[in-house]
Amino acid sequence: MRIGVLTSGGDAPGMNAAIRSVVKGVAAGSGEVIGVRRGYEGLLAGDTVPLGLAAIDGVSRHGGTLLGSARSRRFATDAGQAQAAATIASLGLEGLIVIGGNGSLTGAHRLVERVSVPIVGVPASIDNDLGHTALSIGVDTAVNTIVEACDRISDTATAHRRVFVVEVMGRGCGFLAMRAGVAADADAILVPERDRDRDAVVARCTEVLRRSFRPGRDKQRVLIVKAEGVPVATGELVQALQAVLEAELPGVDVRETVLGHVVRGGSPSALDRLLAQRLAFGALRAIEQGVTDVMAAWEPEDGVGRTTSDPSVGWVDLAEVLAETERLLDGTSPVARGRVALISMAESLLAL
Ligand code: F6P
Repeated sequence: MRIGVLTSGGDAPGMNAAIRSVVKGVAAGSGEVIGVRRGYEGLLAGDTVPLGLAAIDGVSRHGGTLLGSARSRRFATDAGQAQAAATIASLGLEGLIVIGGNGSLTGAHRLVERVSVPIVGVPASIDNDLGHTALSIGVDTAVNTIVEACDRISDTATAHRRVFVVEVMGRGCGFLAMRAGVAADADAILVPERDRDRDAVVARCTEVLRRSFRPGRDKQRVLIVKAEGVPVATGELVQALQAVLEAELPGVDVRETVLGHVVRGGSPSALDRLLAQRLAFGALRAIEQGVTDVMAAWEPEDGVGRTTSDPSVGWVDLAEVLAETERLLDGTSPVARGRVALISMAESLLAL
């Protein structure tokens, strides 16, 4: 078979391991892999590269993506979709694997209607905002990167007895902040699924500061991990907290660190490499069996999707994935509610 593979949207550590898995899986049979450069932009332009075993040797340890990635506005239009479908036909592709997040898999789902070959998604996004997959490729590495950064910040914060607000990526999803915040011994964690009111956010952080610096507690640093999707600007929060401290505890400073894209790079963790290999292999198996319009999901909820020969990988219809993704982001999914309930339960312990 002649199989196309592309990586699209925000890159995620582990994408290279996923590409490698596709190439290895195909090489085990008699097919060929065509790498599409720069995501859907490359598909529109017919910008491809044949991927053999030599191209993927030892790539799993590298962050980013060897194929490049893009957020394509053109592909989102009807004309773009039609052009992409025409390129798939002209390249003679017999299947396409799309490795990416919400926008990329939405594109894959729309493209299915226009082509006669199977199209299968592999979840890759540090945000962990995709429905029906317990994890997406890149999340674990991003969590570890945030924890490492927070540990470093904690060193300097402790030396100066300071408060730090650390902002982390995640778009509209607070998963990274929750997971990394708990692991980094944060005193408070702010997530968009819950913390939407400016005054309530300031009041809660103020309470954490008062508890932290109460007489006899002798606390040397306060760490507040804030997801970027919380609709209160980090600088504004820092100013508000600084004003509280100036009135109540002069001499204690508040600083902010926005980790930004630092969180998206770096060598993938072992878990991300493993996840990527198994998910991509699951996607390849789907294509070989003519299964289309699905995502290879990591440990989907019981009863969701179809099982595969890998006990941790299932095939879930892309329509279902995208619907659940919306629910995750608007907070109505039981998974989102469960996450918020968990973090709220832990809150009083974090701030002790
Ligand atoms: O979706 C991944 C992500 O890193 C988000 O966490 C972040 O909001 C966004 O991409 C940043 O996008 P860009 O790299 O296009 O600025």
